[in-house]
Amino acid sequence: MQRIVYFFFLIVFISACTSTSKTGSSSVPIDPYQYKTVKKTISSNGAVVSAHSLASKTGVEILKQGGNAVDAAIATQLALAVVYPNAGNLGGGGFMVARLSSGELISLDFREKAPASAHRDMYLEADGTPRTDKSQDGHLSVGVPGTVAGIFAEYKYAKLPIAKLIQPAIDLAEKGFAITENEAASLNALQTDLKKLNTVMPVFVKDKWKAGDTLVQKDLAQTLIRIRDKGAAGFYEGETARLIVEEMKRGHGMITLEDLKNYDVKKRSPHVFTYKGYTIAGMPMPSSGGLLLNQMMKMIEDKNIGAMGFHSVQAVQLMTEVERRAYADRAEYMGDADFYKVPVEKLRSDSYLQNRMKTWDPNKATPSTAIEPGVLMAKESEETTHLSVIDKEGNAVSITTTLNDSYGSRTVVGGAGFILNDEMDDFSIKPGVPNMYGAVGGEANAIAPGKRMLSSMTPTIVLKDNKPYIVVGTPGGTTIPTQVFQTLVNILEFNMTTEDAVYKPKFHHQWLPDEIMVEKAFPEDVRNALEKMGYTIRQRGAIGRTETIRVLPDGRFEAVADKRGEDAAEGW
Ligand code: GLY
Repeated sequence: MQRIVYFFFLIVFISACTSTSKTGSSSVPIDPYQYKTVKKTISSNGAVVSAHSLASKTGVEILKQGGNAVDAAIATQLALAVVYPNAGNLGGGGFMVARLSSGELISLDFREKAPASAHRDMYLEADGTPRTDKSQDGHLSVGVPGTVAGIFAEYKYAKLPIAKLIQPAIDLAEKGFAITENEAASLNALQTDLKKLNTVMPVFVKDKWKAGDTLVQKDLAQTLIRIRDKGAAGFYEGETARLIVEEMKRGHGMITLEDLKNYDVKKRSPHVFTYKGYTIAGMPMPSSGGLLLNQMMKMIEDKNIGAMGFHSVQAVQLMTEVERRAYADRAEYMGDADFYKVPVEKLRSDSYLQNRMKTWDPNKATPSTAIEPGVLMAKESEETTHLSVIDKEGNAVSITTTLNDSYGSRTVVGGAGFILNDEMDDFSIKPGVPNMYGAVGGEANAIAPGKRMLSSMTPTIVLKDNKPYIVVGTPGGTTIPTQVFQTLVNILEFNMTTEDAVYKPKFHHQWLPDEIMVEKAFPEDVRNALEKMGYTIRQRGAIGRTETIRVLPDGRFEAVADKRGEDAAEGW
């Protein structure tokens, strides 16, 4: 009898440990205190690339447990909300572009929205002085978060119980994970802002973080549990919503219970175009990413750029001029198309783009003032995060998600443990006044209640013969579209390996400021030649952190994580 009781308890114990039920009681076998970051994998069953090793590993474990690329993307996205607080989030928003195994291309818009009480001049003093401190820091900079609603919209295409996809994030928040040296430095640099911009001191506040410290986030774990148990209502209603609104009241922010309840995800038709036989799917408005990529690729399509050679003066000059022209259009015409009529078809038409290139002179710079006027400076904080996922069933998922600035508004919801975005700064707070990326805008991107702020996020999928070929995207604010552009040109035109396409030095022009930003390793001779042609060159830090998966001719998946950060590839 004793032995029967023993075996009964043993069986109960084993099934509790291995359960894959909707309670999500089992999680993934990952050691959060010791892990290795892998930069490149080649695999046959599936792959995940993201900004953090623990998140990529989580995604691959979900694939191994029978999930498809959407399941894996959701689990990765949620894990990033815990292990990558710079940009992974519950309190932000983003976009997904996916190619489903059925062949359907879809996109989901879970961008933040302006609260109902927001108004056009809310960041202007009575005399018109713009207050970018208010649009970039703390409670007033927060748009209504879309990420959790986005996750449940993504979930319609997933297979596993949602609890199973959320549980790894809960475990990581509850038990904690070991932080790296860079993460410790990043948290240390944040302390002054955290103390200034929070009404309840969050777990991130500490005298000194060091490599190997464990970051435990109990409040965040409770929020994730509410989401696991109640679905999107676990965030937009009930306890979490109450905590958000109380935080807003304490810090004089705008978001109300009504704003949270009214948040809606939009399923949109992806922005699709062709380039030399490839089909490229990107994000439509309110992201400028898909249209900008379309314009830039089409403006070079007839120029035989492959023959010019990678980093030749001719190729860089052409790509710069193309970038300049596309970004001038961004400032004038692009915004949330639900609120403003964006002339997408005209801006992408062959005749328009050919006309746009009539002023291109291959021997000298076209000053931006000759296209549109203005003088601006850009700040270089560009924290957003991208994840690319693929599976053997033919699903490919490209998600870019953001809090906007690094750690968003730097305001954490008291008692709920997640950081809120400062996405309101992506609106044009006053015509001609640059946002934190130096981007300007006007009427198209003016603030209005319920409107989504213009984005640059460019989650992208390239199809070859109607099958997934490249899954790509990157953080980087306004540099996002040019980095996806350059990565694709490197592969499709310069026949580079995926690693070279991602790792080789990048450059960026965004019309205003009228300068080419280059990474440190950008070749000196090309730089000098461009300066002689009239370009202003400014060296800056790393541009982008591009996460790329490419399908090899034999059908295997090559996943490459950018070396510019602690990004990680995992395959199975
Ligand atoms: N917050 C950066 C972007 O959406 O482009």
